[in-house]
Parts: sequence; structure tokens; C-alpha cells
Amino acid sequence: MSTVRPGSGDEGRRVRVRVPATTANLGPGFDTLGMALCLYNYLEMWETPAGLEIVVEGEGTGQIVANDTNIVYQVACQVFNQSGYHPQGIGIKLTNQIPVARGLGSSAAALVGGILAANELAGRRLSLDQLLELAVGLEGHPDNVAPALLGGIVVCAQVGSGLCYRRIAPPQGLQVIVAIPKFELSTQAARNVLPRQVPLVDAVFNISRACLLVMAFLNQDFALISQVMDDRLHQPYRTALVPGLDQVFQAAREAGALGVALSGAGPTVVALAREHLADVEAAMRKTLADHGIDCTIKRLLPSTLGAEIL
Ligand code: HSE
Repeated sequence: MSTVRPGSGDEGRRVRVRVPATTANLGPGFDTLGMALCLYNYLEMWETPAGLEIVVEGEGTGQIVANDTNIVYQVACQVFNQSGYHPQGIGIKLTNQIPVARGLGSSAAALVGGILAANELAGRRLSLDQLLELAVGLEGHPDNVAPALLGGIVVCAQVGSGLCYRRIAPPQGLQVIVAIPKFELSTQAARNVLPRQVPLVDAVFNISRACLLVMAFLNQDFALISQVMDDRLHQPYRTALVPGLDQVFQAAREAGALGVALSGAGPTVVALAREHLADVEAAMRKTLADHGIDCTIKRLLPSTLGAEIL
């Protein structure tokens, strides 16, 4: 397998894609709700005369594999096969801002970025819904890949063999504080601790709150957001994986957060807020530190834009 270095002059057209981070579940919306955030991974893909060249910069450098098992390359090959497009070689450059394995949708961003860039190189032969279904099939749940591709807040349901989804514009003025612990947690490990069955009363607890949370987002009803972000389907089982999680939730709420949740499968904790942002950040940082966890705090806005060809 020969290698063509980027910039050598003999590579083909470059496609550049930007994909947002995502926070899934939003409390009660397990595997159903997700929101895109203004924190991005950038991906470039181009055809080369032969071989595979992968360059990784930023988050995941030295950790993300740069060979033919790389997930971006693998998903690109699936798109090329489905499109009947056969490049001789491929170059990929990943410039990542989304931390890996922290619950901010880094794997969804890789899948969506790879799919979108490959589809663009292949002449846009797959539709948006085909791209989304491919990403959901590979990720196993839709609540990161859908907002990563579409932007905003997305509500998803698997209906028959397809995905039913609707996008909501994030409420104006909503700020998102993420406390990103300095340790990784694989989604698979965080799913392995979940029970196969849950009590009916807990299912009702979540259904009612998830429905009201969607209403709250639609109506920009911040008071309602503050009442309905609790969860009984996944967070109680995951508290052991993030020391101090319940205490961080409580501290962030007492400091003025509207609602607090585990971001996706964790370990990042996400707080939605409109005011008292510095107080919420300080409370989250201190409470995690009290439990021996160092974290990075970021103040983000929801991203109305999903993945884009730049
Ligand atoms: N809904 C998924 C989970 C999101 O909580 O396992 C994973 O990022």
C-alpha cells in the first residue's frame, strides 16, 4: 500500500466537514433526545492515487487509530460501497475539539463526519435519511448521531425499520455548561450497568418528563425545563461510575442551573442554565474536586447547525 502525503500535489479534491458535539438523553430522554453543541470536530477527506493516509490532530491524538480499522475510514468505505464509488486511495485528516469517550458524542461525530465527507466525494448519491440510518445503525442509538447530523435538539424514535425524528430549535438564551472529568468512560461499559427491565412506575416517571421537556423546549418554557429533567431509567444505575454525581446534580441546581444531567453515557455532567453561570461552574468544579475528580469546564451554546460541508 503506497502513501500519498497531504499537500504533495497529486491528491484529488478535498472535502472539509464540520460536525458538532452532542449531549444525549438530556435527563429523561434516554436514547431519544439529543442536542448539538458549539464544539466541533473538523474532518478532511480526499482521494489519492493509492493507499490510506490518516492524520489526527487535537483531541484523540495518539489514541485514535490511524490505519484501516479507523472508524472514519471504515464508514467511508461503507458509503463508497453503497454508492458504487471506488477511489484508488483515501486521505483523511481529523482535527478534533470533542474529547474522546466523555459523553459528548465523539464517536457520533466521527461516524457522521466520515459518512458526510464520503458521500460528498462519491457525488452525493445517498440521501440525508440514508446517511442518518447508516449512522444510527453503526452507533446503535440515534440520540447523538441525529443532532450531530441535523443540529438543534432532535427527538428520535425507531419506528419499524426506520427512524422517525423531529428537530426543535434550541430555546433562545439557553446556555450549556459541561463539566468534563479527566477520565474516560466507554459507552458500552456505561450501558452494561443498565437493567434489562425497569419498574413500570419508573417508565412512567420518564415518559411524562421527556414529553414535558420537549414541550418546554418548544415553548421556550425555562420554568418547565427546571421541573422535568430528572431521570430514573439510566442515571441511578450510572452513579457508581461517576463519583459524586448526585452531589454535583444537587450543587449545580442549588447554584442556579435549570436542570442537570449526565451527558449521554457520561462521565461529563451537563447543566442547562440561563443565569448564575459562573456560580454553576464553580459548584460543579468544587463538588467533583471534593470527590477526587479533576474536570474541565466549558460554557457552550446549543448549535443550531448540524454537520456541514465547509
Ligand atoms: N443514549 C445513550 C446512552 C447515549 O445513554 O447510553 C450514549 O452517548
